[in-house]
Order: sequence, then structure tokens, then C-alpha cells
Amino acid sequence: MKVDIVTRRDGEEAVVAFEYEKRELREKPMALDVLLQAQATSMPDLAFRYGCRARNCGVCTIDINGKPRIACRSRVREGDRLAPMATLPVLADLVVRRDGIARQMHGRLANGAQGNDLNVDAPDVYHDLTACIECYACLDGCPMHARNFAGGLPGSMPDGEAQPDPAQGYKWGNPFSLLKLQRIRVDPLTTEAGQNAALANAIELGLDACVDCAGCKCGVGIDLMGQVVGQLLEAASGKLE
Ligand code: SF4
Ligand code: SF4
Ligand code: FES
Repeated sequence: MKVDIVTRRDGEEAVVAFEYEKRELREKPMALDVLLQAQATSMPDLAFRYGCRARNCGVCTIDINGKPRIACRSRVREGDRLAPMATLPVLADLVVRRDGIARQMHGRLANGAQGNDLNVDAPDVYHDLTACIECYACLDGCPMHARNFAGGLPGSMPDGEAQPDPAQGYKWGNPFSLLKLQRIRVDPLTTEAGQNAALANAIELGLDACVDCAGCKCGVGIDLMGQVVGQLLEAASGKLE
């Protein structure tokens, strides 16, 4: 089975047509299987990330045919194209810089309370939001995140515009950052001041971008529009410019 694998080093992109050798006739390999076999055979220096191989750690996300997919849980077909996520800067091959997102949340996740970590009294929605595996698939098509790159993607910055430095944390948010903030708001351990701070952070990260947006989708099925974006917009009603 032939699969195109996009490699990228020092800004140079290449596409390698890799022939995957099925381990049994009926095998339907995951994208991660293909990458592992490519690395073990004809592409020994191919760079990609994975961890749990069980859709838990979220680090293996790549684009398959232009859409973000969790590589360890996404089957590939003849002719598919495996590429780095378009929404974050590429370090090498299929490895992207994730730190700009995590750093953006520094100092924004305090809930103002001290309490038990298991949080057994939390409502169902709180536990639903803890299902986020930080795969960043939801960044795809998010106009708020695109503001970090002059309204586009890392690979398409206008001439003369400098890329934002991920080490500083991105200025503008995304569905994931809103989810983290909304989880603080629905946490019963959060003080009222903590709830207000979480909402203020969502507004500062660009919640206004959600007003006219068609919406976002979560890679593991969390109801981002119903449980996150819609709730924040309602709470921020009258506070958005
Ligand atoms: S609804 Fe908001 S968070 Fe979701 S994609 Fe649109 S701008 Fe981004
Ligand atoms: S909200 Fe969903 S798509 Fe976004 S990072 Fe979390 S698990 Fe991934
Ligand atoms: S390797 Fe952990 S989610 Fe894919």
C-alpha cells in the first residue's frame, strides 16, 4: 500500500512515496504503523511523535489528507498523505512545536481555591471536559488561533511578518484554551473570583472570534460548542467588543 509522507527540514518540503508492507493480508494499518515501518526501513531519520499508542496522550496528531487526525487511531488507505499539522510551526518532518499553546495558559489556570484533586462533587460536564487529551486537533480552522499568524497558518505568514515566538506563548487562544478555562468555571472548587478571572482570560484570548464562527470540532468527541464556546459566550454577553 502506497502512502505519501511529507518530510520537512530547514523549510524544505519533500514528499516520499512510501510502500507499506502489510503484516497480514487483511491488515488495515494505522497512520502510526506506517510511520513506524517507514522509520524502521527506508526512512531511518523520519521524525514524528508518539507516546501511549492508545489515544490517551494526544502527541501523535498529524494531518491526514489535510485534516488533523490522531495517528495511533486513524487508519490509512492507499494514496493517503501524511503531513505535519498545518496549524503549528514545524520543527522537523511531522513534529510540530506545541509549546506555544501550553505557555499561553501559564498563569491562567488558577481557580482561587484549594481542594481535593479527585473533585468527586464536580458536575458531569466538568468530567466531560477532563477527557481532553491535548491533541490540538481542534485548532484546525479556528479563526482565533489564526490571528497568531496574521490570520493564516504558520506556513503562510505574509512577507515581512515575523512568526510569533512559541516560547513566549501565543497571544490568541483556541478551542483547547477555552476548554481549559471553562473547566475552571464549572469546577465547584473554584471561587467566584476564580470564575470571573477565567472568563476574563477567555475574553483576553479572543473569545470575540467565536461570535461569527461556524464552530469547532473535538478530536475525541467533546461537545466544544455546547459545553465550552456557547457557555463562555453566554457568560460574556455584553462584555465583548
Ligand atoms: S468557535 Fe471559537 S474556538 Fe471554536 S473555532 Fe471558532 S473561533 Fe475558534
Ligand atoms: S478539545 Fe478535543 S481536539 Fe482539542 S485538544 Fe482537547 S481533545 Fe484535542
Ligand atoms: S500515541 Fe498517544 S494519542 Fe497517539
